[in-house]
Amino acid sequence: MADPFEIASLAAAKIAELSGVKSHDIALTLGSGWAKAADLIGETVASIPATEIPGFSAPSVVGHVATIRSILLPNGKHALVLGARTHYYEGHGVRRVAHGVRTAAATGVKTMILTNGAGGIKDHWKPGTPVLISDHINLTANSPLEGATFVDLTDLYSSRLRDLARTVDETLDDGVYVQFRGPHYETPAEVQMAKIMGGHIVGMSTALEAIAARQSGMEILGLSLITNLAAGIQKTPLSHAEVLEAGREAEPRISDLLARIIAKL
Ligand code: HPA
Repeated sequence: MADPFEIASLAAAKIAELSGVKSHDIALTLGSGWAKAADLIGETVASIPATEIPGFSAPSVVGHVATIRSILLPNGKHALVLGARTHYYEGHGVRRVAHGVRTAAATGVKTMILTNGAGGIKDHWKPGTPVLISDHINLTANSPLEGATFVDLTDLYSSRLRDLARTVDETLDDGVYVQFRGPHYETPAEVQMAKIMGGHIVGMSTALEAIAARQSGMEILGLSLITNLAAGIQKTPLSHAEVLEAGREAEPRISDLLARIIAKL
């Protein structure tokens, strides 16, 4: 199989060719609830169907958008919006999960913003609350790194960028993100396990992508939208419809927050 970094360079070259933008500074992966941020941060220079870029494939989840956008920010920087996240639970392997992040790095990106919709363990969090990811626990039992690639994960979710986000909204809480494999939601017992282990947020993305981003030398900002309280913390059953609805409801507010953070980068 071809080297994943070679495919990422091919993807970056194709993005440069189709957008006319030679290199990008910031990249964003927009999860449930965050997509509107792309419209707020600047002027869209190019919007490319992900299927035209090497290594990307059509998403399997309704509600996930599959375009890659190049956006010119008011400060002259270029942002790459990856609307085509491959989740680990899709079963295409870790290379595909890491491809978006590696493509971003290959386009020159130094700051990677990873967002998601997730379940909250802190019971005072309300659905619609954005929180900063301070660290993660990877329960996928997998890694995007291959071979003897020993990468340090200290301060993986940059404390500098978290501080910067708090200059935009000082009320932003933070928490440790626990990536489960999914696609089923957690059992209440698994949520209790995550809590005892030191977790505050449960989800099905982000940790593997953050590891790949660190390997590529990027600084990472992680943001979760709490779309629901995690199983057993909330007493009613979880549903994908509920997650999407909470995302839609919070979208204007959190997208504006993200746009204001990006303006400060
Ligand atoms: N668990 C895992 N993933 C999620 C959740 C959750 O409660 N909510 C949104 N994505």
